[in-house]
Amino acid sequence: MSLKDEILEVLRSSADFCSGQELCERFGVTRTAVWKAVARLKEEGYQIEARQNRGYRLMTEGDVMNETELREALKEDGFLRDVCYFRQIDSTNLEVRRRADQGAEGPLLIVADEQTAGRGRRGRSWSSPPGTSISMSLLLRPKIRPENASMLTLVCALAVAGGIAETTGLKTEIKWPNDVVIRGKKICGILTEMITELGEIGCVVPGIGINVNMTEFPEEIRETATSLKLELGKDVARTPVVAAFIRCFAMYYKVFLETEDLTALKPVYEKLLVNRDREVLVLDPAGEWKGIAKGITRTGELIVRREDGTMEEVRSGEVSVRGIYGYV
Ligand code: BTN
Repeated sequence: MSLKDEILEVLRSSADFCSGQELCERFGVTRTAVWKAVARLKEEGYQIEARQNRGYRLMTEGDVMNETELREALKEDGFLRDVCYFRQIDSTNLEVRRRADQGAEGPLLIVADEQTAGRGRRGRSWSSPPGTSISMSLLLRPKIRPENASMLTLVCALAVAGGIAETTGLKTEIKWPNDVVIRGKKICGILTEMITELGEIGCVVPGIGINVNMTEFPEEIRETATSLKLELGKDVARTPVVAAFIRCFAMYYKVFLETEDLTALKPVYEKLLVNRDREVLVLDPAGEWKGIAKGITRTGELIVRREDGTMEEVRSGEVSVRGIYGYV
């Protein structure tokens, strides 16, 4: 265990201040080393009060996200085989793919505080600034047919909605197929990638980006994005959101695997479907058309009633939809 983690444990277990001298003696290090370790803990988000002649005291824990906290929060969970945390990484999806190439079995969760090359759907980039967002990806190796893997994106969206509700009480909706929204603004994006080997699934990598404590967004998404903090009016601790997401995901994933489709999850998904009974613009490369979204099929296509009354099933890989007047 590092000095930083050892000091954290001592601070956690003492109700009052711990003197710097006591910590130096206990771990056989200098005052500077203790001071540096405390500074690192503060950087990670722990609120530590330092008082002259009294020492250090751990205050109520704020938004702390690191490997120790994530392991602690997920230890009862039983779903994940491992969890790894990075302060900075290119993309958690890419890291999972690297681990998969090295033979990692999964389920594995990679979480990062900041991504320098976060990837969105349709070749877009995804902004994951440090300290305010959750970027995480799962390594899954489900024994299912490759054509059924895209449904896992919808399963993830349900789990994000569940995790957010459990930790913040906020009610989210889903913009088909997998954007999680609050008041019509995007709070979470999901990018699911799949690697196939000889026609079989090698692994599936759902990557989830959640806007947690941002108060500002880049110009191009300013009108359509929001964060948990903006919606709740206060800071949100990220580790419990990750843990609640994993709990919900494990539950929905099990249900999904039983039938390899959304038969059992369709009613709960449709309850959250923001597009339901709304007019949507179907952005089909062969020509845009309007209709009313009615729900989803058990394999995740959006059911849309055309203006002439005929029903269409719209596949997410091929087209996207948006509201007639805006994003939803
Ligand atoms: C979208 O375009 O809506 C999907 C965004 C997905 C972003 C997440 S953040 C974690 C994971 N790593 C990435 O590079 N992308 C996904």
